[in-house]
Amino acid sequence: MCGIVGFTGREGALPILIRGLYSLEYRGYDSAGIAAFTKEGLRVIKTRGRIKNLEDKIIAEGGLDCTCGIGHTRWATHGGPSDRNSHPHLGGKEGKVAVVHNGIIENYLELRQRLEAHGYEFHSETDTETVAHLIDYLHTGRREDLAMTVLKAVGRLRGSYALGVVSMDNPEEIVAARRDNPLVIGLGMGENMIASDITAIISRTRKYIILDDNEVAIVRPDGVVVMNEFGDEVEKEIHTVTWDLSAAEKGGYEHFMIKEIMEQPQAVSSTVRPRVQEGAVRFEELGLTEDRLRKAKYIHIIGCGSALHAGMVGKHVIESMCRIRCSATVASEFRYENPIISPDDLCIVISQSGETADTLAAMRLAKEAGAFTLAIVNVVSSTIAREADGVLYTWAGPEISVATTKAYSAQLSALYLIAANLARICGTIDAQEEAHICDELFALSDRIRQTLQCKEQMQYEASLYANRTHVFFLGRGLDYAAALEASLKLKEISYIHSEAYAAGELKHGTISLIEEGTLVVALATQPALYEKTVSNIREVVARGAAVILVTTEDFDGDASQCQQVIRLPKCQSMFSASLSIVPLQLLAYYVSVQLGLDVDKPRNLAKSVTVE
Ligand code: AGP
Repeated sequence: MCGIVGFTGREGALPILIRGLYSLEYRGYDSAGIAAFTKEGLRVIKTRGRIKNLEDKIIAEGGLDCTCGIGHTRWATHGGPSDRNSHPHLGGKEGKVAVVHNGIIENYLELRQRLEAHGYEFHSETDTETVAHLIDYLHTGRREDLAMTVLKAVGRLRGSYALGVVSMDNPEEIVAARRDNPLVIGLGMGENMIASDITAIISRTRKYIILDDNEVAIVRPDGVVVMNEFGDEVEKEIHTVTWDLSAAEKGGYEHFMIKEIMEQPQAVSSTVRPRVQEGAVRFEELGLTEDRLRKAKYIHIIGCGSALHAGMVGKHVIESMCRIRCSATVASEFRYENPIISPDDLCIVISQSGETADTLAAMRLAKEAGAFTLAIVNVVSSTIAREADGVLYTWAGPEISVATTKAYSAQLSALYLIAANLARICGTIDAQEEAHICDELFALSDRIRQTLQCKEQMQYEASLYANRTHVFFLGRGLDYAAALEASLKLKEISYIHSEAYAAGELKHGTISLIEEGTLVVALATQPALYEKTVSNIREVVARGAAVILVTTEDFDGDASQCQQVIRLPKCQSMFSASLSIVPLQLLAYYVSVQLGLDVDKPRNLAKSVTVE
């Protein structure tokens, strides 16, 4: 939600800020803006729409010649997308302070009223403008560093923020602050940057530090100072980006989404291979002893969106392999449902970004209750990864498209690894069975590669069905969990209404929506349930539905009533969700392309949801 970037150095800051904003655009893209110090003083140019609109506006206004500035790409929370609600926001009557913000200030109305009583005029509906005026109010007339004022100001804020602040008092300096929203500081030679994530700094430097909650940083061309909430200077660890810039580029593909779909074999093998040795799953990084694992009598799996769907698959696999009771819960529900958590429980938290606000809050709740929190995370050193008791990274590489594909597949693999490990420790599988599972996991990446060969077929299917207004996805058990993910993929990037149903449940109401030509995608990958799902297919066909069946190579049920049958390579049925999702990701992708939509940045969405 919202991307922040800032640069201070010797070179022209504008192209660096624009490039940074483009790489953060996946975080929100309804408006964008830049504040920079030019010969004329502090100038702000901002506009509704994409970064391209901002570039055009900057050119139309004669450019921005500057070596220090801050930029923002927005996902609206307070006030709709408009020029005046775009960031940066100026503080004070003279506009001496400019602020960019990611997060939500919960007490902004109360602060706004108090600032209005002091004569401050507001020009937007945002919570951020309150912060800009508050900083101006606390700073004006006081001989105090901007950073100390920001420290005071954030002490009066309730809610979450990553802030970039500049003031005319020091046109080479950016002050950054964070609470519950990510912010990194890129360390260069004679230049430094702030950014919501490392994709925005990697073209300038690979060295960075992570700002922690309640810290404030002073960023100047020749150095960075970080203070804690008491104003004491703190020593920060310097991290190095391990992946290449090319990993965050399209590499000849039309969209990031198709590139990332095609990268799934690699994402899965990078996640699985380092953890399998001589026919056994071995984790060195978990921080979880076998004794502690053995104690776990209940496993809570938590996530949002696709991460939750991966968790639902994980629940099935863990329960059937380990016979341990397990639940998969939406993080935003978990945190407010007064969950029953015992200190022996294991809590698996799944998140690509590692920054999702609800998932983070749910994890903190479980941790407080004494459960061991194990995070499956893609973004290295993200907040969830750092706060969890143990972390299992999915080595999917940077995922840029808002619709997750390769990170989801890597999450599934991580869950299979946990299930196999746990099953051996609990004694529900023996060494031979574990070795067999490891072989299956090794083979998964090739099977996904084989499955990807249905690309052209799915492109054709998309051309047949892109004009539908409703689509239903049906499945039982593991196939139901996969159906939920397939349905989310389609709706988020094609804007076609779609629903996933447990195949046996449709007749309890929703079947009334099936009419002549309704597209139904049925998943049947579990041999024990083939016949049941075939019966459900018959029910919808009898009401006029056109059915695409996604099933296994050896499906022997009656598929004669289906328009299309997609057959997946043979694999142990427990791992089929890793294959069945592939054609359906492709279907969603090609439908979106066919409809001429913005595949990588669908409307109303953002990749990293850092507000609750
Ligand atoms: C899926 O395509 C979505 N982008 C979304 O559901 C996502 O999985 C969810 O917001 C959770 O994000 P996270 O994995 O970064 O926590």
